[in-house]
Amino acid sequence: MAGGWSPSPLPGSDRVGAYAVTPARRARLSARFPGERLIVPAGGLAVRSNDCDHRFRPHSAYAWLTGLTGEDQAGHVLVMEPSGPHAHEAVLYLRPRSPRTGGEEEFYRDRRYGEFWVGRRPDPAEAERLTGIRCAPLAALGAATGRDAASDPELASVLSELRLVKDAWEVGQLQLAVDHTAAGFEDVVRELPRALAHPRGERWIEGVFGRRARAEGNGTGYETIAASGAHACVLHWIRNDGRLDRGDLLLLDAGVEADSLYTADITRTLPLSGRFSAVQRQVYELVLAAQEAGMAALRPGAGFRDFHRAAMAVIADGLAQWGVLKDAGGDLHRRYTLCGSGHMLGLDVHDCAKARSETYLDGVLEEGQVLTVEPGLYLQPDDETLPPELRGIGVRIEDDLVVTATGARLMSGGLPRTVAGIEEWMGTLLEDAAR
Ligand code: GLY
Ligand code: MN
Ligand code: MN
Repeated sequence: MAGGWSPSPLPGSDRVGAYAVTPARRARLSARFPGERLIVPAGGLAVRSNDCDHRFRPHSAYAWLTGLTGEDQAGHVLVMEPSGPHAHEAVLYLRPRSPRTGGEEEFYRDRRYGEFWVGRRPDPAEAERLTGIRCAPLAALGAATGRDAASDPELASVLSELRLVKDAWEVGQLQLAVDHTAAGFEDVVRELPRALAHPRGERWIEGVFGRRARAEGNGTGYETIAASGAHACVLHWIRNDGRLDRGDLLLLDAGVEADSLYTADITRTLPLSGRFSAVQRQVYELVLAAQEAGMAALRPGAGFRDFHRAAMAVIADGLAQWGVLKDAGGDLHRRYTLCGSGHMLGLDVHDCAKARSETYLDGVLEEGQVLTVEPGLYLQPDDETLPPELRGIGVRIEDDLVVTATGARLMSGGLPRTVAGIEEWMGTLLEDAAR
């Protein structure tokens, strides 16, 4: 088996998409840790069962610094070697290709890394061309000492904080993810007749969205939430094993993760019949007003928590007007809203989560940050504080925005949000589907 093989040069593009922007990212990291050796692992494979692993996705910090995003990065390590008092040289330690001769063990027999099992990966010389980073075989790494992003909280939090403001290339990737996500939502509406006919219609919807996510990008950026009726009152309903009822709402929270690993995070709450009932509309319009208030509070210099406060003030007022709350003061509305109204978005759906609170949760917004605004009302089916007609309704509206010099730009405005806009959009798509 070892003979008779012709050369197999690396197919496809010879540079990663982020090639031009990763040097500046590494320079910003370098400036934060002068003279210190920094280790940023891609992470390793995780066993699913026996000899089957979960699909591999490199750690977001590794992808951000190297531009490498593929399943073939398992086990690889980026090291920032101090190269003077104020500089580092980046070195990527990679598993070399296994040769067809002399390396037969791995090439033919290794289910995790053998080329006949999982496909070709770049060798160090090819990876150097791809990334612009000096590459060395993994075996040369030895026992690496230094700050390790997997175990050093300070390095991990700096790596989160450096990603808070997105560069123009990143905003472009996020827009791509948002646009593919919008297409996935349209697919779902077109498929509603089939989903309604299936005993596990929520799963059908998850599958339809997942098809778009895998076809256009790397997959979904998080587990899709396809929650109909009272399931929508569970914030992260990912069991998705329910039947759909034409009289209910469907809360669909889903995002395509682009090949670059940037993800969208969008929620629409849709009437399965194509038309909101009066009470569904009442709840929906309150959440929409809260979202409008939240989005209007985004601007550079505003506190990160301001948009949540603005959205919650609208919700509390509305609940008081409905007679659910005695008055709009205090925080009793939290029984019906449950969680924060948004978060940073980027390579991770809950991006930059290791940033210190003074730079994120208690910090101020900056131009170039991308975040979600996603207020919701979750009126539990067994909540005796609510009038019976409101029980079992869950509504969340979630959009993705980039902070600009003067405010914020809605990136997901391609999907309608108003009652009239949604009904018209659904009507057109369902008509198309019926043809
Ligand atoms: N899909 C999770 C979230 O909206 O934060
Ligand atoms: Mn979100
Ligand atoms: Mn979401």
